[in-house]
Amino acid sequence: LSRVARADIIDGAALAARVRERVAAEVSQLASRGGVAPGLATVLVGEDEASQVYVRRKREACEQVGIRSFDHDVAADVTPEELAELLSRLNGDEGVHGLLLQLPLPPELDQDEMTALISPRKDVDGLTPVNAGLLMHGRPGLVPCTPAGVIELLHHAGTELAGAHAVVLGRSILVGRPLAALLLGENATVTTCHSQTRDLAGVCRSADVLVAAVGSPKMVGADMVKEGATVIDVGINRTDEGLVGDVDFDAVSERARAITPVPGGVGPMTIAMLLAQTVAAARLPRPPAQG
Ligand SMILES: NC(=O)c1ccc[n+]([C@@H]2O[C@H](COP(=O)([O-])OP(=O)(O)OC[C@H]3O[C@@H](n4cnc5c(N)ncnc54)[C@H](OP(=O)(O)O)[C@@H]3O)[C@@H](O)[C@H]2O)c1
Repeated sequence: LSRVARADIIDGAALAARVRERVAAEVSQLASRGGVAPGLATVLVGEDEASQVYVRRKREACEQVGIRSFDHDVAADVTPEELAELLSRLNGDEGVHGLLLQLPLPPELDQDEMTALISPRKDVDGLTPVNAGLLMHGRPGLVPCTPAGVIELLHHAGTELAGAHAVVLGRSILVGRPLAALLLGENATVTTCHSQTRDLAGVCRSADVLVAAVGSPKMVGADMVKEGATVIDVGINRTDEGLVGDVDFDAVSERARAITPVPGGVGPMTIAMLLAQTVAAARLPRPPAQG
């Protein structure tokens, strides 16, 4: 018997639209109770083309759901002191609930040092050491948007996570590491793979849930996927044939139970989660006044 069934396609665009609707409803509810409109400040340093596109999308998405967008475009030759002073000002601005410093920064600036200056309660990208530490401890905090979106997609696809073997390909600060911590929080048994993993295909084949966040076009083939697995493709690779993920979609969708497409999978969820986290940050109780 030849297998004709194909995997369910997990529609990230549709799920993201639902999250945005929910966020828009929460924003108007906050306003109707006389509360403040949630605000997101985005800081873009320099003229990296991809970053300009990402930041513009984030700003537009804010406008669409009623989140106030505070746009700061900073010249590439800004000094660390000047950037620190801007971040400090936004940390202290009561109208700003979320503060996002778009990465990568120009090489002259230390990304870790600059990111660490963001107030943890406004850190909607979940990249400060405080929020990363809370995530490692399994405590509530603001978490990176892409991994948060992956978890939402897995729930949406009805994937059983408790006790499942989840394999994460990639260990970046932005995706792989925080995702492994979130999956552990969902009681999955988690394996993180990277460029030095031995028998990568074998490890991946034992996954009930396989998430690829590598940045290598179509590197995950059908031979790396267990029959019936759920496969989430975080990769975004620009190639001659257009945007492709880290997963060979056509081949893998013959084996998987469910799979995300690229584009239209994880990407739309990342921005939706940013909006959701900005509203969550706006709902945090005010910190005690400092004397
Ligand atoms: N959809 C979205 O919203 C979204 C958001 C963020 C990123 N992305 C995409 O996701 C992908 C990953 O992003 P990232 O920021 O996590 O990338 P990254 O910082 O470059 O990390 C890539 C990871 O993949 C591992 N790796 C590289 N080659 C490998 C191989 N042959 N076998 C096994 N592991 C390998 C690396 O291992 P080592 O640590 O050993 O070097 C590293 O941990 C990119 O395509 C990016 O564009 C998408």
